Amino acid sequence: MTCGRYPGPLLVLLCLLHGSEETCPSMCLCVSDTVSCSSSGLTKLPLSLPAFSVTLDLSHNQLSWLNPGSFNRMPRLENLRMAQNQLSSLGHGVFHNASGLRLLDLSSNKLQVVEQHYFQGLWRLEELLLFNNKIAQVEAGTLSGLSSLKKAYFSLNQITHFPFFSIQDHSHPFLIMLDLSSNRMSRLPWEDVKALPGLVQRGLYLHNNSLICDCSMYSVFWHWDLRGYDSLKDFTDEHTCSIYGDPRASIRFLRHNRFFHNCTVEKAVSEPVTVLLSNVLVSEGERVRLDCQTSLSSIELSFTWLSPSKGYITQTSINDTLISLFANGTLEIQAAKVNDSGLYVCTALDIKQALNATREVNVTVLLPAAESFNTGYTTLLGCVVTLVFILIYLYLTPCRCSCCKQPKPPVIPIATYDPSTLTSVFSPSTRESKIQTNKHVAFMEPMLSEEGTEWTPQS
Ligand SMILES: *[C@@H]1O[C@H](CO)[C@@H](O)[C@H](O)[C@H]1NC(C)=O
Ligand SMILES: *[C@@H]1O[C@H](CO)[C@@H](O)[C@H](O)[C@H]1NC(C)=O
Ligand SMILES: *[C@@H]1O[C@H](CO)[C@@H](O)[C@H](O)[C@H]1NC(C)=O
Ligand SMILES: *[C@@H]1O[C@H](CO)[C@@H](O)[C@H](O)[C@H]1NC(C)=O
Ligand SMILES: *[C@@H]1O[C@H](CO)[C@@H](O)[C@H](O)[C@H]1NC(C)=O
Ligand SMILES: *[C@@H]1O[C@H](CO)[C@@H](O)[C@H](O)[C@H]1NC(C)=O
Ligand SMILES: *[C@@H]1O[C@H](CO)[C@@H](O)[C@H](O)[C@H]1NC(C)=O
Ligand SMILES: *[C@@H]1O[C@H](CO)[C@@H](O)[C@H](O)[C@H]1NC(C)=O
Repeated sequence: MTCGRYPGPLLVLLCLLHGSEETCPSMCLCVSDTVSCSSSGLTKLPLSLPAFSVTLDLSHNQLSWLNPGSFNRMPRLENLRMAQNQLSSLGHGVFHNASGLRLLDLSSNKLQVVEQHYFQGLWRLEELLLFNNKIAQVEAGTLSGLSSLKKAYFSLNQITHFPFFSIQDHSHPFLIMLDLSSNRMSRLPWEDVKALPGLVQRGLYLHNNSLICDCSMYSVFWHWDLRGYDSLKDFTDEHTCSIYGDPRASIRFLRHNRFFHNCTVEKAVSEPVTVLLSNVLVSEGERVRLDCQTSLSSIELSFTWLSPSKGYITQTSINDTLISLFANGTLEIQAAKVNDSGLYVCTALDIKQALNATREVNVTVLLPAAESFNTGYTTLLGCVVTLVFILIYLYLTPCRCSCCKQPKPPVIPIATYDPSTLTSVFSPSTRESKIQTNKHVAFMEPMLSEEGTEWTPQS
C-alpha cells in the first residue's frame, strides 16, 4: 500500500492516517489491524512494519536479536507473538514506546536469564508467555511494574529460584495464574509462597519440579489440596517429590502421604480470615444469643469468645450461671446489661486442620424506654425495637398477666420501612434451622454483613 497509488484527496487522507511507511512487508500478510509474518524465515525484523497494527505475529522465524525501540513506531501494538524463534536475550529498550502491549509471547525461544529490565514500562501487560525457554534465572525485579499482569507462564524451563516475594497484593492485584511447573525447583521459600495473595496461590502451578519431600512443603500442598485448587486436582500425579533429594526415590505425594505422617500440619496458609460483622440490638434484661458461625464447617471446632465486659470466655473458663457457651459456639447471656454492650469476637478453631476463623458481633444493649415505643417510628432504632417487641409479643411471650389484651393483628408496616436498612429474616439458614425452633429476627448492617447474627429472645 503506497500513497502514490491513490488520487489526490484520498492520498492525503491515507497518508495522514498511515504515515509514510505503510508498506506491508512482502513476506507478511497484513489484514486490517493484524500483521502476520510467521514462518517467513525472518532473521531480522522487517524494516518497516505497518504503524496501525494491533497484532503482530512473528512466530516461527529465526529471530535472534531485537534492536532497542524495535516496536516504537507501532503505537497501537497490543499483541506481540514471537514464539518459536532463536532469541537468547533481550537488550535494553526493546519494548521502548510499546507500552500498549497486553500480550507478549516469547515462548519456545532460547532465553536464559530473565533480566530485570526486560519488561520495563509494560504496565498494561496482561499475559506473559515464557514457557519452553532455557531460563535458569528470573531476576528479582522482573515482574515489578507489571501491575496489570493476569497470567504468567514460566513452565518448561530450568528455573531453580523464583522471586515470589516480589508478588504482593498491591503490586499485582490481577494475577491469577503463575505457572512454574516443569522447572527445577527443589526447595521453595515456603514462607514467601504462603504470603502470596490468595488468588495467586490458587493459580500457582508447581507440579513436575524436583521438589524435595519435607514437612514444610507438604503442609502447603496439604492446605491447597484441602481447598480443592485446580492446580492440584488437574495434575495430581505430576506432583512428585524426592525423599532426601534422591531422584530415584520419588513419590507422588498427593496420592501417597505415608511419608508425611509425622508432619504436623500446623500453620494455616495465609488467607484473609472471614470476619462477619453483625449488629445485635437488645433491651436490658433480655436474653441474648450470639452465634459463632464462620467459614469453618468442621464439626470438631472449639470456640473462644472475647467479651468486652468479661474478657475471654471458653467452655471451661465460665463459672457463671448468667452466661453460657454451648458446644456449637453459641454464647448466651441470660440478662443483658447496658455495660455488656460492645464488640464480641468469637474465634472458631479447627485444631486438626490448623484453621481458625473469627466472627464479630457488635452488641448494643438499650435501656428499656417504655414510652418511647409509640413515637419511636420516626427513627430506625425505634422501628427496630418496636418490631422486635411486636414479634416477641406475638410469637414468644406466653400470657402471664390476667388482663391479657388481645394481641394486635400482625400489621407490621414493613412496607413503609426502607428494606435496605431493616431486614426481617424468618427463614434462617439451614445450619441454624436444625436446632432453632423459635422465630428469629436478624438485623443486618447492609454494607457489612453477609448474614446477620441472630439473637433469640426467650420468654
Ligand atoms: C517515544 O514516546 C515518547 C513520548 O510518548 C516520544 O516523545 C518519543 O518520540 C517516542 N520515541 C520514538 C522513538 O518514537
Ligand atoms: C516434566 O518436566 C520435564 C522437564 O523438566 C519435561 O521434559 C517433561 O515433559 C515434563 N513432564 C510433564 C508431564 O509435564
Ligand atoms: C515417624 O515417627 C515414628 C516415631 O516417632 C518413627 O518410628 C517413624 O520412623 C517416623 N516416620 C517417618 C517417615 O519419619
Ligand atoms: C455492669 O453493671 C452492673 C450493674 O448493672 C455491675 O454490677 C457490674 O459490675 C458492671 N460491670 C462492669 C464490667 O462494669
Ligand atoms: C465456680 O464458682 C464457685 C463459687 O461461685 C467456686 O466454688 C468454684 O470453685 C468455681 N469454679 C471454678 C472452676 O472457678
Ligand atoms: C489463627 O491463625 C493465625 C494464623 O492464620 C494465628 O496467627 C493465630 O494465632 C490463630 N489464632 C488462634 C486462636 O489459634
Ligand atoms: C457498635 O454499635 C454502636 C451502636 O450502634 C456503634 O456506636 C459502635 O461504633 C459500633 N462498634 C463497632 C466496632 O462497630
Ligand atoms: C447452639 O446450641 C444451643 C443450645 O443447644 C441452641 O440453643 C442454639 O440454637 C444453637 N445454635 C446454633 C447456631 O445452632
